[in-house]
Amino acid sequence: MSTALIIGASRGIGLELVRQYVADGWRVMATARDDAGRDRIQALGAQCLRVDVANPSSVSALAWMLDGEKLDLALYVAGVMDRNSAHTPPTQDAFDRVMHTNVMGAMMVIPQVAPMVEAAEGVLACLSSVMGSLQGTHSSDAALYRISKTALNMVVRTSQPEYPRARMVALHPGWVQTDMGGAHATLTAAHAVTRLRHTLAHITPAQAGQFLSYDGSTIPW
Ligand SMILES: NC(=O)c1ccc[n+]([C@@H]2O[C@H](COP(=O)([O-])OP(=O)(O)OC[C@H]3O[C@@H](n4cnc5c(N)ncnc54)[C@H](OP(=O)(O)O)[C@@H]3O)[C@@H](O)[C@H]2O)c1
Repeated sequence: MSTALIIGASRGIGLELVRQYVADGWRVMATARDDAGRDRIQALGAQCLRVDVANPSSVSALAWMLDGEKLDLALYVAGVMDRNSAHTPPTQDAFDRVMHTNVMGAMMVIPQVAPMVEAAEGVLACLSSVMGSLQGTHSSDAALYRISKTALNMVVRTSQPEYPRARMVALHPGWVQTDMGGAHATLTAAHAVTRLRHTLAHITPAQAGQFLSYDGSTIPW
């Protein structure tokens, strides 16, 4: 039986990943910050771990919680949005919230989890966004969020050489109907996750360290 760890799974894309991997027969461990998220994860048949990725003392306990595991798949899904533009400096609170969740959390998770992914010669993916593509950016809409995802891409890029037996990718999920994506997004969570799972199942060694879209195509950095 394959084992997956999904970090940030209380709702949205993370919860749909739990639903589909459990339905596909995987053993799934998934994280939430509160009781409501835990209940949704457990109702799908997954094991829930309590982790706040923006809180160093919480996220640093992950390796202890996962002691001895081999992970075929680890997904860093947790993320928050901020809508500021380049005209408006972010508040320190907004900067810390976005950068701690989207960047620092991943930097704390990867050293704990990547050896467990290497043990299974598995895949470690961080949910990034096409909004983090330097070449694809022509506006300052949601500038802080974009900057955080560009930094997250570098987290993946700098981590990959240190864990050569894991295949790591930064992965854009598409524009998805969730609390973050909104009701007008083009993809349902079910459709996006079906495509993401297909892409994750076919990541080649040559794609390790790359920035991919949900359909498996490469996104320019
Ligand atoms: N939806 C889109 O169109 C879209 C497009 C591109 C990229 N993405 C990326 O895909 C990922 C998932 O997005 P989504 O649309 O599913 O967003 P969402 O519906 O807003 O869900 C965000 C998830 O992240 C968790 N999270 C936030 N802060 C956390 C923290 N400090 N510790 C642990 N978990 C935390 C939330 O948990 P709580 O319930 O505890 O808040 C929730 O489970 C994000 O990284 C996002 O940037 C989404």
